[in-house]
Amino acid sequence: MDFLSLAKQRYSCRSFLDKKVEKEKIDKILEAARIAPTAVNFQPQRILVLDDKERLYKLSECTKFGWNAPVILVVCYDKNISWKRKYDGKDEGIIDASIVTTHMMLEAQDLGLGTTWIGSFDPSKVREIYSIPENLEIVALLPIGYPSEDATPSPMHDKRNSLDEIVYWNKIN
Ligand SMILES: Cc1cc2nc3c(=O)[nH]c(=O)nc-3n(C[C@H](O)[C@H](O)[C@H](O)COP(=O)(O)O)c2cc1C
Repeated sequence: MDFLSLAKQRYSCRSFLDKKVEKEKIDKILEAARIAPTAVNFQPQRILVLDDKERLYKLSECTKFGWNAPVILVVCYDKNISWKRKYDGKDEGIIDASIVTTHMMLEAQDLGLGTTWIGSFDPSKVREIYSIPENLEIVALLPIGYPSEDATPSPMHDKRNSLDEIVYWNKIN
């Protein structure tokens, strides 16, 4: 499948089958995280894989989302490693972790799996429950699983601005 078709096919999946995701597929998704580009190639991404039922269950204390997915990735970056732009000190780690998460979502899609980026979670709860050290910033939770038969894109999936609204050629206004 060409890239644009894959990217258009992906949608936020919020209903999963109670079916294990094969280890080989998880490994491929993690490989997509490994090869993602990062600022100055500092590679600050750190990923906690949750696939143990008891550990997954605890996530409900941190977010109302998760949809009983069989695997949830906690995507972080190490702020002691991420690149800081010298001109204004901006920490680019969140950008690195976002690219990594996007790579993984698209690889999962290619493998026939569904994902949804979860940004709405209590980071201090996640840190406490999973003993995430202070140097790791938690950027996203990523549930992964086989979409259930009734999984469908939300109406928001088809609501995208036109190119006219988001692109400027040569100058802004
Ligand atoms: C940074 C970010 C945070 C998000 N957080 C949540 C979330 O907490 N809960 C949720 O249900 N969806 C979340 N989403 C999914 C978006 O709502 C979804 O991508 C958007 O509505 C477009 O729909 P689509 O992914 O189906 O194309 C998040 C997406 C992004 C990129």
